[in-house]
Amino acid sequence: MTSEVSVPPASVVLVSGGSRGLGLAIVSDLLAAGVKVAAFARTVTPELTALGEKYPDQLYYGSVDINDAAAGQAFVKKVETTLGPIDALVNNAAIGQDSLHVHTSADHLAEIIQTNLTSPLVLTRFVLRRMLAKGLKGRIVNITSICAQRGYPGLVAYSATKGGMDAATRSLARELGGRILANAIAPGFFASEMSAVLGPTQLDQIVRRTPTGQLTEPDDVLPIVRMLLLENTNINGQVLVVDGAASI
Ligand SMILES: NC(=O)c1ccc[n+]([C@@H]2O[C@H](COP(=O)([O-])OP(=O)(O)OC[C@H]3O[C@@H](n4cnc5c(N)ncnc54)[C@H](OP(=O)(O)O)[C@@H]3O)[C@@H](O)[C@H]2O)c1
Repeated sequence: MTSEVSVPPASVVLVSGGSRGLGLAIVSDLLAAGVKVAAFARTVTPELTALGEKYPDQLYYGSVDINDAAAGQAFVKKVETTLGPIDALVNNAAIGQDSLHVHTSADHLAEIIQTNLTSPLVLTRFVLRRMLAKGLKGRIVNITSICAQRGYPGLVAYSATKGGMDAATRSLARELGGRILANAIAPGFFASEMSAVLGPTQLDQIVRRTPTGQLTEPDDVLPIVRMLLLENTNINGQVLVVDGAASI
């Protein structure tokens, strides 16, 4: 006998930063699972365009800077008229950092905090207000990082933003009273444009310190995203670490 589903599986998912790296992998995976997906980034890549050609009725995408709140809100409204009401949000877009705190300008600090913390919270607020006004139940998945839980040089502001999103996830889960499930996924380091600053020596070091002996892959994160968006699990307000126990 199947148990009653209190929050139904997501049917229209908005993914920020869906043009490459983990975001693109999430978009592709959800489309293959039959979900309608909206994705944006500042630059639309050929890979995202190709997915649009493969799934013309399921994918809506465009060029939006998450720091331009008005553009983000216009995009959300366009998604709703094209795909239907958004009932899930994956906050994935972020920028990295590769500078010691003492060498990071105040402007750069502000840019990291704006892009990785303030703008995702503004977008979340906008999407949530529309979901609640429509009486929808739904899901939020924040992609954070192991950097929020362990220290890494060169990533002070970045780590602060990811810790901020982890904390926001817990309070959102409380505020939303189970009507909208809010969770975070904290991956370990994986190869992408963001982590390209890590040299082979640093990557080897991470692998050596990882009990599973494997660097995290975006593919390792996909089943967790799918579970949090589509399954009936009663997981709420949690940060799920996917790093092969590198941080343990
Ligand atoms: N790579 C890692 O080792 C690692 C580890 C743990 C957690 N994470 C987290 O995983 C997520 C994905 O990271 P990734 O490694 O896949 O990064 P990535 O390859 O650099 O992709 C980042 C995505 O975010 C978009 N983006 C960045 N700034 C944006 C802005 N202002 N407005 C709209 N979109 C923007 C990028 O597109 P545009 O630049 O064209 O806008 C791109 O689509 C991030 O939240 C990251 O913090 C990464």
